[in-house]
Amino acid sequence: MRFDNAEFEAAFGTAAQLPESSFLEIAFSGRSNVGKSSLINKLVNRKALARTSSTPGKTVTVNFYRLGDIRLADLPGYGYARVSQSEKARWAKLMERYFESDRNLALVIQLVDMRHPPTKDDIQMLDFLDKKEIPFLIALTKCDKLKKTERARRLAALPEELGFLQAPYRAIPFSSVTGEGAAEIKAEIEKSLERHE
Ligand code: GTP
Ligand code: MG
Repeated sequence: MRFDNAEFEAAFGTAAQLPESSFLEIAFSGRSNVGKSSLINKLVNRKALARTSSTPGKTVTVNFYRLGDIRLADLPGYGYARVSQSEKARWAKLMERYFESDRNLALVIQLVDMRHPPTKDDIQMLDFLDKKEIPFLIALTKCDKLKKTERARRLAALPEELGFLQAPYRAIPFSSVTGEGAAEIKAEIEKSLERHE
């Protein structure tokens, strides 16, 4: 599959706007600022297809990108404390609608900041994917920021922290700065698409 012909498709801010699932989708989920938009840009080899920002809460809409007849869904980040209650409610409705609308999901890439244990929200999200039997992989982001010993410590701690997961899962260290992990994630995307051929 070609990863280098991505284009922006549309952005949706409210649940009612979300279109039916008409293409196989790969969704990117994770807390605000974890690096979802950066990961998308790395995979499609574009500097700024998906807008990134050092200020959390940059992506507040569901953004669709198309790679031929595959759709990438950049989901709005969660867990950013400094948003209003009404904004949180909008987010929750949007995400609920996204996942409940019978999406044609090939894979969800759940991003977790590799420097820290998964947050409560990360765990809730992973538990949701696991219970719904939605195929997912974990991208451990910002791995360039860890020293060797920290990295080894995080990798050793994860199996217990994620011990509640029923499904076997892969956790791939990733850096949008060095490109580490990008080839592996692409290979997993390809595999997930093949299962739908
Ligand atoms: P929201 O849209 O707010 O939910 O954030 P996001 O998850 O899309 O994060 P985004 O890709 O915008 O990245 C947030 C910040 O982290 C930016 O300043 C990025 O440059 C930085 N960043 C993302 N990935 C990496 C990484 O792998 N390594 C390092 N060092 N910085 C990263
Ligand atoms: Mg973003």
